[in-house]
Amino acid sequence: MDTISVIAGMQWGDEGKGKIVDLLSENANYVVRFHGGNNAGHTIVVQGKKYPLHLIPSGVLQPKAKCVIANGVVVDLEVLTSEIKMFESDGIKLNNRLFISERCHLILPYHKALDIAYENARGKKKLGTTARGIGPCYADKVSYNGIRIYELKDWELFREKFIFQTKIKNKIIKSLGGTTVDIERELEKISKLRKNILIFVADTYQLLQKAILEKKKILMEGAQAIMLDVDFSPYPFSTGSNTIPGAVNTGAGIPVQKIGDILGVVKAYTSRVGGGPLPTELTDKLGEEIREKGKEFGTTTGRPRRVGWLDLEAVKFACQVSGATEIAITKIDILSGFSKIKICTGYKLNGKSIPYSSCGYQELAKLTPIYKRSLKTSFEKQAFKLVYKEFSGWTEDLTNIKKFNDLPKNCQTYLKFIENFLGIKISLISTGPKREEYIKI
Ligand code: IMP
Repeated sequence: MDTISVIAGMQWGDEGKGKIVDLLSENANYVVRFHGGNNAGHTIVVQGKKYPLHLIPSGVLQPKAKCVIANGVVVDLEVLTSEIKMFESDGIKLNNRLFISERCHLILPYHKALDIAYENARGKKKLGTTARGIGPCYADKVSYNGIRIYELKDWELFREKFIFQTKIKNKIIKSLGGTTVDIERELEKISKLRKNILIFVADTYQLLQKAILEKKKILMEGAQAIMLDVDFSPYPFSTGSNTIPGAVNTGAGIPVQKIGDILGVVKAYTSRVGGGPLPTELTDKLGEEIREKGKEFGTTTGRPRRVGWLDLEAVKFACQVSGATEIAITKIDILSGFSKIKICTGYKLNGKSIPYSSCGYQELAKLTPIYKRSLKTSFEKQAFKLVYKEFSGWTEDLTNIKKFNDLPKNCQTYLKFIENFLGIKISLISTGPKREEYIKI
């Protein structure tokens, strides 16, 4: 692990980043969230206990790591308070371990009401957001209508701003047929919540600059994933923030040239929750089987995730735009027991090859994934021996395997193909949900 490392999902989210961040946090001084909000959902399993996390960085279960919610994150006070309470009731104290930037924008009740009202107004063309108010909150931020945590320090000023914004938002919510926000009731709730949160508020910019000077180990925890980046996804099937590693600069003040390594997390197959194109989606029984086996139901919303074969055309793009220097493969154990496994290696539209980056959501919905690839280099010809249409599967349970060479041969071939296709080293393989279930290479 380099001094500053970024961990980012290379697909559509839910790659299992939480577990990887938890693992790597053992050696970290700081674990930092720098974008997104409680639309994220990570589940960490330690000593048989499951911790669902949405806002607090996944390093929280490693006692030495300090956790930072930096300025790029949008914060829902209720969610943050309940997460803090969940840990405190388990004896995990967060005083002097959790630091929240005063520049974070607040997700306020009207953002959630607007998110739902817009989705309902879209009808059949719903985007499938998590309904957590993420898009409307970031929209307010860039239209100078946002309210930052900083403003909670001066209650009268906050009150004035909140009332002004809620009155405007209520007009929009009403026009969309949504449920308007009760100003006084919400103010009362916020006035209680702010006391829990203000004790954690700090100048996280200074904190991190000092940490950089002192050469502390800093882990930047990406949320969502590259395929949901507001600029580089098939917009509007996106999330409200930039998810690419470069967002550590805008979202936490970390200069980009300070980034050491970038770990791209890739799930061994594909999943997506919400609307939008998914070229390798399996809508048949096989898809159902993978969903059940992989427990592919949203941590945040409980929605069933759509699943499909690994899409390396999309992952290749994600690795390129994010500058991934290493890969962690997750949930490879879920593929045990499938006799044939496929990997998408490119797209065709109207008979012609088309790269992921040239596709808008309309093209992505129409194209045909290619599951075959002529082997190009002599290494490929030697290692893979044939033109792949599908990979032979394996049946062994992988959870207790500790060395790459002990994995079933077909599993090794599958992984080597991924590594070779992307041209990036696989440095970690997660073989089960528990902290100790992984192979380090
Ligand atoms: P929003 O971020 O709630 O606005 O949702 C926009 C899109 O991103 C929807 O398709 C969500 O399902 C998806 N999304 C947001 N956060 C996550 C995440 O952490 N994992 C997976 N999908 C997400």
